[in-house]
Amino acid sequence: MYTALYRKYRPMTFDDVVSQPHITAALARQVAEGKTAHAYLFTGSRGTGKTTCSRILAKAVNCLHPIDGKPCLECEICKAADAGNLPDIIEIDAASNNGINDIRDLRESALYTPERCKYKVYIIDEVHMISAGAFNALLKIMEEPPAHVKFILATTEAHKIPATIISRCQRFDFRRIRDEDIVARLMYVAAQENIDLTEEAALLIARLSDGAMRDALSLLEQCVAFSDHIDPDAVSNAAGVAGRDYLFSLLENAADGDASSAIITADELYSKSKDMSRLCEELTAQTRNLMLIKTVPNRPELLNCLPKEAESLKAIADKMSLGEILSKLEILQRTLETLPRAVSKRTEFEMALVRLCTVKSAEALGGDISALEKRISALERAISSGMVINQPKPEAKTLSDPQPSKSDQPKPSDNPPQQAEKKPAAQFERCRDWDEILDRLTVRNPGFAGSLKGSLSYVSGDRMMIVVQNRFFLSLLKASENSTSLQEAAYDVTGIKFRIAAKCADGQAENQPSEQSSPVDELLKKAKEAGVEVEEGI
Ligand SMILES: Nc1ncnc2c1ncn2[C@@H]1O[C@H](COP(=O)(O)OP(=O)(O)OP(=O)(O)O)[C@@H](O)[C@H]1O
Ligand SMILES: [Mg+2]
Ligand SMILES: [Zn+2]
Repeated sequence: MYTALYRKYRPMTFDDVVSQPHITAALARQVAEGKTAHAYLFTGSRGTGKTTCSRILAKAVNCLHPIDGKPCLECEICKAADAGNLPDIIEIDAASNNGINDIRDLRESALYTPERCKYKVYIIDEVHMISAGAFNALLKIMEEPPAHVKFILATTEAHKIPATIISRCQRFDFRRIRDEDIVARLMYVAAQENIDLTEEAALLIARLSDGAMRDALSLLEQCVAFSDHIDPDAVSNAAGVAGRDYLFSLLENAADGDASSAIITADELYSKSKDMSRLCEELTAQTRNLMLIKTVPNRPELLNCLPKEAESLKAIADKMSLGEILSKLEILQRTLETLPRAVSKRTEFEMALVRLCTVKSAEALGGDISALEKRISALERAISSGMVINQPKPEAKTLSDPQPSKSDQPKPSDNPPQQAEKKPAAQFERCRDWDEILDRLTVRNPGFAGSLKGSLSYVSGDRMMIVVQNRFFLSLLKASENSTSLQEAAYDVTGIKFRIAAKCADGQAENQPSEQSSPVDELLKKAKEAGVEVEEGI
């Protein structure tokens, strides 16, 4: 039976895992000393060994005769595990079992002792895919795990995992695999498989794979189908990089501001079933090359492209300033994030192309282009919903309530006179920009942003109510540099200078220091009256 190369050469023990010595050594030591944790979180980019190491660790903790913390591969447990029929090592693909019921089933089955092994090991792969409810269910069992249970969570997107889960795991960050390690592994696999692979070809494969071993092995396999002797030319043919002139013409259009040609090219690619996300990734990679040409012009070996492509890139780079290239890169990065959620990927991508062709450098516009775009769209939303934004002067320190705006419809019956200057019946709603605000905050103030992971934010007019998971955050918010950086991040994204208050999910309320007038509970009560679901406790 045919097995893909990357599966056939999946490392069976820690020694075969390359480029992650900080992880494999630590895990083997823990096993050898009998000091393994209840739960692990393996994060890092794709194809770097997360699933592989999860399986090896699951074997190692159960192996009957481990050697220096590494599985022996000889005992009945190791053999059964490698054959995939050990009932005590349970792999759950969260991409397809992401519901609360799946995790409830897990909770139930975790109570039973293992059948054959010392530990029941649950490997939850792609764990970022599980629902919020399922995370809560998972948290319950992770809080008090039975002694015979271990969890290994694996994900490429650690930022989507609630802080409450992360804090219960021992975390390991998998690195992108170094080019030379990929080359060595490719040469090894080629020797085993009698593949005629040159060292230069292996290096080109490594470059094109961007640190992902799985991609490298898949590409090698594609090359084998293409040619008996694998040299750089065979690689470029097999990788389809030979026919990717469209990338350079799109970049050229972007440099020339020629949106109509760009749209026509995209249309042709679309009708040839080109995947828009893939196209966006390719454009991002080439735009990054442009950036490198500008910043490190005498290091062509850093470029992720074929030698002859470097020429075209150089010509395109000459047409643009570094600022312009950075602005384009930012547009592409943003599009990569929004594409998976877009209703029409084609439209989303076309919009990005038009932006690429129209954007000039951010400095020329006096600031960060995406922040400007965000503010414009926040204003558009506000206008279409009939809301009036009172934009305080940036340096205004006074946080007293604004005068009621004319568009508000006061209902005198439910509003006693002393509350007349407050906005009547504040409608709190989930802040749509919260993730984005946290992203910005991470840049300004990463430590503080970390403490806000898993929090929820509700807004009404210029008020923001944050419900945090972590009581510690309330004390952090008291520090004025923290509250200011949060305000600024929110202002960058929404254009609104929010008055911020916070409450802990377990019920302890705290005001932002400068917000002395209105008690938070009052705000929360209003939020609830307005039908906002405010989560209390976990
Ligand atoms: N560090 C490594 N050393 C050797 N081979 C590796 C390594 N990482 C990945 N591979 C190869 O790539 C294949 C895929 O690896 P694995 O499934 O562990 O990646 P992953 O990190 O879980 O990726 P994903 O995030 O896409 O699930 C393996 O079968 C193996 O052939
Ligand atoms: Mg995996
Ligand atoms: Zn064994």
